[in-house]
Amino acid sequence: MTWRALPKVELHLHLEGAAPPEFIRGLAKEKRIDLSKIFAQDGSYAYRDFVHFLSVYEAATSVLKSPEDFKRLTLAVLEESASEGVVYSETFLSPDFCGGRDLVAWREYLAAMAEAADEADAKFGITLKGIVTCIRHFGPDKARETARCAAETKGDFLRGFGMAGDENVGKPGDFTWAFDCAREAGLRLTSHACEWRGPDEVTQTLDALKVERIGHGVRAHSDATVMARVIDEGVVLEVCPLSNVVLGVFADMASHPIERMRAQGVKVTVSTDDPPFFHTTMSKEYAALEQAFGWDEAVFAEINSTALEAAFCDAETKEKIAARLANGR
Ligand code: ADE
Ligand code: ZN
Repeated sequence: MTWRALPKVELHLHLEGAAPPEFIRGLAKEKRIDLSKIFAQDGSYAYRDFVHFLSVYEAATSVLKSPEDFKRLTLAVLEESASEGVVYSETFLSPDFCGGRDLVAWREYLAAMAEAADEADAKFGITLKGIVTCIRHFGPDKARETARCAAETKGDFLRGFGMAGDENVGKPGDFTWAFDCAREAGLRLTSHACEWRGPDEVTQTLDALKVERIGHGVRAHSDATVMARVIDEGVVLEVCPLSNVVLGVFADMASHPIERMRAQGVKVTVSTDDPPFFHTTMSKEYAALEQAFGWDEAVFAEINSTALEAAFCDAETKEKIAARLANGR
């Protein structure tokens, strides 16, 4: 079955990581920047492993230099997501890549992305909300500046704060100030954790950062104590199955723990992370889950309703999206 037409909610998507390679090549050409090293012969992004992926990601992002570039990117990404049946999306936005965490510049970038979101809602029927992310391997000082940018611009469009980047650098407790600052401003919280490190990373992230959602969290599946806590506290996992398989977190879909976690009572959701980097789309994720675990429409309805419940948007938006999920379009 093709899952394209099914209305979907996606909670974990990196805006720059969703940039089609042709889009980045086009901007590089316009700006006369040589990016040939980051592309394979077939035109897709080329990287060797996770750390190299992060540096290719940052190189690709370096061609995005103005609010107008981010507006074009946001529109291109939302057009693609809408064509995959996504009706509600939350994307990670990075002040690091939008004017270097300068608040005045950040406001302009954010306004451009919010404008693109409004246009995409009208043109493609998709709602977008933003989550500012700090980047772990850039360190706690930059994370503090990022949190300040987020705290100052919280609103109808910007709903949350989180952390991405290399989990093997530093520890969650280094970022407590940034997450406290964002929480005090009324932002909702999520953080990447336990994509690469063990279950203790989930414990530290919940204790130090007090997040309600975790990006990935999948390596915690074998730890009964951590799983029990995730279930008891109703922590929602933003699982990105094909990202995990392509990056080698799990050997293949059959060994991915998403189904075991769901069966145990963990609130799992499904997202693409950085779709062109991992040669995925939302409908490919759904097809792979159907094939590996026999997931059907009833399971996907449960997954999307979990995702909508955990979404960081206002109640009115939730009602509107719930009606679209119920109507099947
Ligand atoms: N940034 C973009 N994709 C990421 C991932 N899968 N893990 C951590 N940081 C990221
Ligand atoms: Zn991610």
